[in-house]
Amino acid sequence: MPDHKKINVLYLASEADPIIKVGGLGDVAGSLPKALRKLSPAKLGGQSLDVRLVLPFHSVITQKFDNFQLVSSFTVPHPNGGIGSRAFLSYIGDLPVYLIEGYSLLTAPTVYSKDNLRDTRKYTYFSLAVLEFVKSINWHVDILHANDWHTALSVYDLKLRRQQEPFFSNTYSILSMHNMPYMGAESKKVIHDFGLLTCECDHLPDWARTIPLPIGMYAADQLLTVSPNYAKEILTPEYGCGLQDFLVSRKESVAGILNGIDTDDWNPKTDAALLFRYDEDTLETRSLNKTALQDEFSLEKDPQIPLIVLVSRMDQQKGIDIAIEGLRISSNLNFQAIFLGTGDPILEAACRSLEVEFPDRVRAAIRFDLNLSRRMYAGGDLLLIPSRYEPCGLTQMIGMHYGCVPLARATGGLKDTIIDSKNENKNTGFLFNAATPEAFAHTLLRAITIFKDQQKWNQLQKNGMQSDFSWEKSALKYAHLYMDLTGGKNEN
Ligand code: ADP
Ligand code: GLC
Repeated sequence: MPDHKKINVLYLASEADPIIKVGGLGDVAGSLPKALRKLSPAKLGGQSLDVRLVLPFHSVITQKFDNFQLVSSFTVPHPNGGIGSRAFLSYIGDLPVYLIEGYSLLTAPTVYSKDNLRDTRKYTYFSLAVLEFVKSINWHVDILHANDWHTALSVYDLKLRRQQEPFFSNTYSILSMHNMPYMGAESKKVIHDFGLLTCECDHLPDWARTIPLPIGMYAADQLLTVSPNYAKEILTPEYGCGLQDFLVSRKESVAGILNGIDTDDWNPKTDAALLFRYDEDTLETRSLNKTALQDEFSLEKDPQIPLIVLVSRMDQQKGIDIAIEGLRISSNLNFQAIFLGTGDPILEAACRSLEVEFPDRVRAAIRFDLNLSRRMYAGGDLLLIPSRYEPCGLTQMIGMHYGCVPLARATGGLKDTIIDSKNENKNTGFLFNAATPEAFAHTLLRAITIFKDQQKWNQLQKNGMQSDFSWEKSALKYAHLYMDLTGGKNEN
């Protein structure tokens, strides 16, 4: 077997758990790079990976942590003069994490804000700082793996520089798309201010040529989505966000690799946030978590009443309005419901209204609360995910892993991960097709009917708990892609 060189992978994201998490991207960026580092060369035909993560040094991070070591000071080019920048190093386990600081980062307090212009400036700066940074530490990156619009311009920057700068001539790029409709707003002026030109690509519609995500999509060597089904969906007008024709023109470079979850972190047997820990053989212990949750929310403590939970960003994407209306038209059924989420004020208000309407059985917890989310996965019977679109979705996998059965719309990654077939013994959840309250209500009735048969319900729970949602299989797929792109590079 020939001697193989390490493949150096730089994974770029706007958030990564446990340093900073807002949504599923944070879960993925905090767990996939770790899973990639765990793959032994024996599994990769002798090849090894040196995976490192890079994040913006958001000021919320500076407030929470202090164990960072300064590793580099460098300048990011800008038409009005260079921007002084610094990079710090920290670790998640053995995963090196670089944090880049400079320019507008210190003054933008949250990871994402309602101020599009400020966010676009911040992430344009970050994306352009990344290549300068790796040059400053003389680290030759083989794979630049960007995620979402926030880091997409790094891929464009690479394409522009790779021809001219030998330092980058062997660097290949991947852009993973976790949420296509978010492309980077109000970006035309920002990217021109940074000295970037409008992207010249015949296949890209005119409107998209100054927007970070589409430009990154044009520039990337490989485009990925976070589930195989979503990779097919984005080639259609329904899900393609106006870029479907462009994506069809790059069809050979578009693939989907399913997300996993960190099963060490999400483990009902060891979860420190739970009052009662359990596994698939101790489901009776699980029911104590249900009673505790009913108690916490002053709901009737009755194990026979199905306890429905929802843990979600409050966003149009998530179809929370569909669930609210669906529950309203199902009010003849006996259920309790707890909503946990924050985001769109209209959806938050709609949850609160439902609580006011059904004070004895609906609760709305309008906040971001990681520990409560864990208690809900461990105590809820049914987890609602009525999404209009879902690039992958992690909550259904977490829910199944915790014995909380998902009721979800058959879209994107939800369809790839939840089994709802004619063979009841194999099923792991409930799926509905039309994005309507009626379709939701019809499926809710189906779920509640099965809930009444505890044996069938336990089977559903166990099927979900036995499903393998760990990262291992998918991490191997990423590793093989890295090897394919770099041509299984040999040392020379
Ligand atoms: P998305 O990334 O689109 O928000 P995912 O299903 O991929 O959806 O991931 C959502 C992640 O964020 C999960 O880990 C979920 O538990 C968590 N989450 C969402 N809303 C809340 C909340 N209000 N409090 C705590 N955790 C939340
Ligand atoms: C996005 C998507 C979600 C996906 C997550 C992580 O936020 O909305 O479906 O699971 O990214 O990839």
